[in-house]
Amino acid sequence: MTRPLVAHTRAELREALSKVRARGGLVALVPTMGALHDGHAALMAAARAAVQEADVVVVSIFVNPMQFGPGEDLTRYPRTLDADLDVCAAHGVQVVFCPTVTEVYPGGDPVVTVDPGPDSRSWEGRVRPGHFRGVATVVAKLFGLVRPDLAFFGEKDYEQLVLVRRMVADLCMGIEIVGVPTVREPDGLALSSRNRFLEPDQRLLAQSLSRALSAGVRAGPHGPEAVLAAAREVLEAEPGISLDYLALSDPDLIGTPESGPARVLVAARVGSTRLIDNMALTLGGVS
Ligand code: PAF
Repeated sequence: MTRPLVAHTRAELREALSKVRARGGLVALVPTMGALHDGHAALMAAARAAVQEADVVVVSIFVNPMQFGPGEDLTRYPRTLDADLDVCAAHGVQVVFCPTVTEVYPGGDPVVTVDPGPDSRSWEGRVRPGHFRGVATVVAKLFGLVRPDLAFFGEKDYEQLVLVRRMVADLCMGIEIVGVPTVREPDGLALSSRNRFLEPDQRLLAQSLSRALSAGVRAGPHGPEAVLAAAREVLEAEPGISLDYLALSDPDLIGTPESGPARVLVAARVGSTRLIDNMALTLGGVS
């Protein structure tokens, strides 16, 4: 198992990628905030499978302060670099970019940022004002620093995936964005770096998110109202969770269709831990 080359600075990153660039090789990027789990491993495996042996897979590990609001979990967000490097090594990652905040934001808060559109148009944006401005800005910066040909994002953060795709298209960034299906525990809980904060009783409650989504998926043939009603029934049976939103949309998150492909999304707090999840479904078919 070869340890990846670790770049902390822009100059080290440039040096680490210079050889692959000189021979015209591809660069595949997996942006992360660390605390890597099997969901991230699936992103790395997808990146490795999408390129040749001689190309390079880069994982970035950077807990981006700009995407955390006041009172959110920036300081308690898990930082586990040694274990993360083992995960990267096990998945054929050649370069890990883990810059400091000053390396990414050398002039302090950036004056020019990426406007992801109004928060009012986004479920996460309404609950976490400014979050997606922070995400879009740091992803644009990582794209500028790494200059990847492809980048891999988990479907678990579905709004983020759709936003990044839109940013790349609207700003003509010329990067192929690949969405990777959510990895789940055997009981359905979507893997998340935040799951480690759940106490055993909260861990049981947290399953109700995926159970609600699955109930919604099963109700898909009966139409949008049936989906939301089925999912809500599961969530309402668990007073221990505090729902932020339950939503249904088309896969591009533009509007709610009556039939065809759709996405059902949920966010809730279990104790002080905020969890999000979503599933694909098909609406209609039964009249
Ligand atoms: O999904 C994440 O881990 C983060 O939002 C990302 C894309 C690495 C940007 O900080």
